[in-house]
Amino acid sequence: MATAQAIPASSPLLDVLAGVRHDPPPVWLMRQAGRYLPEYRELRAQKGGFLELLLDAPAAAEVTLQPVRRFGMDAAILFSDILVIPWAMGQALAFEAGEGPRLTPALKDAPLMLALSAMTTEAGKLAPVIDTVRRVRASLGAKTALIGFAGGPWTVATYMLAGQGGALEAARLAAYQDALGFRALIDRITNVTIGYLAAQIAAGAQAVQIFDSWSGVLPPAEFERWVIRPTRQIVAAISHLAPVIGFPRGAGQNLLRYAEETGVHALGLDETAVPDGLPVTLPLQGNLDPVALLAGGEALDRAVDQCLARFAGRPHILNLGHGIDKDTPIAHVEQLLKRLRG
Ligand code: CP3
Repeated sequence: MATAQAIPASSPLLDVLAGVRHDPPPVWLMRQAGRYLPEYRELRAQKGGFLELLLDAPAAAEVTLQPVRRFGMDAAILFSDILVIPWAMGQALAFEAGEGPRLTPALKDAPLMLALSAMTTEAGKLAPVIDTVRRVRASLGAKTALIGFAGGPWTVATYMLAGQGGALEAARLAAYQDALGFRALIDRITNVTIGYLAAQIAAGAQAVQIFDSWSGVLPPAEFERWVIRPTRQIVAAISHLAPVIGFPRGAGQNLLRYAEETGVHALGLDETAVPDGLPVTLPLQGNLDPVALLAGGEALDRAVDQCLARFAGRPHILNLGHGIDKDTPIAHVEQLLKRLRG
């Protein structure tokens, strides 16, 4: 007996990544699983810490699904962190309450070639994260896309050098003073990232985002070497597997070049960026100000309307320009969705 062929159902988000516009646009929020949700805080407290939570696949899958269940987001984003790559590469990783992440030993204290030769990557340490992807995909409806992610090699390198976040001098200096060693570090991160993203896609991630949160501090020539080049390598290696959303936060004048030269399928814009000058066929994601979401009220409604107008006529995914603030009231997220969907 002949059985009907199942046609794989697409989702609004995957449609937009393929260049097909939706009105209203599909929506998800960066850091949508996190501390502003009481159900997240409860599970995190039960598991004893952030790293414990993200390495417990059933719990991490539950956290990934929480915002989808509560708000009906058009996508789930894997619950993990960009810093699991340095951890798999051999640095110790700790998230101290209120202090942000710490990676030890910080690579800035030794010549990079020497430090790298002492490190071995154990990709198997990331198996629980891949298991989370599998579990989430099995629990999601066909209309909800699952997004995997990794950090951009430049951003990951800034954490590996300094041992903490937001301290960019160590990486900026090493890139000039020890360009060979820094290039070797970027190449190693790039290779591990390619394997990691390919494994996420094989387990059920239908798109992946590259978070290059600190790309905005680089002059054009350095941006080319440390952001565009490694991103192009990642895209070349996985773009036949799933669409790639590039998010070079703060890239400003470098956005168009990033889109053209890396080959990403879609571009994430931060709240300071404008789409003017970007190709009208390029799917764009963004770029509501997270502070407008924190503020709520009329300012939020106005910001949503302005955001929709800014991307009118383009394939657009509504998102924030950066991660949701942990003090954001849940009612403000509900207000955003109501304004968007009516
Ligand atoms: O978007 C999502 O919901 C998926 C999960 C996700 C997390 N981190 C969870 C997380 C994603 C995509 C990230 C990316 C990430 N992590 C980036 C790139 C995006 C950005 O924000 O610029 C960076 C730079 C990191 C590194 C990182 N992780 C920092 C600096 C911190 C501490 C600051 C903070 O917000 O607490 C983290 C911790 C972290 N990652 C939390 C979550 C939910 C908070 C952990 C907790 O205390 O429960």
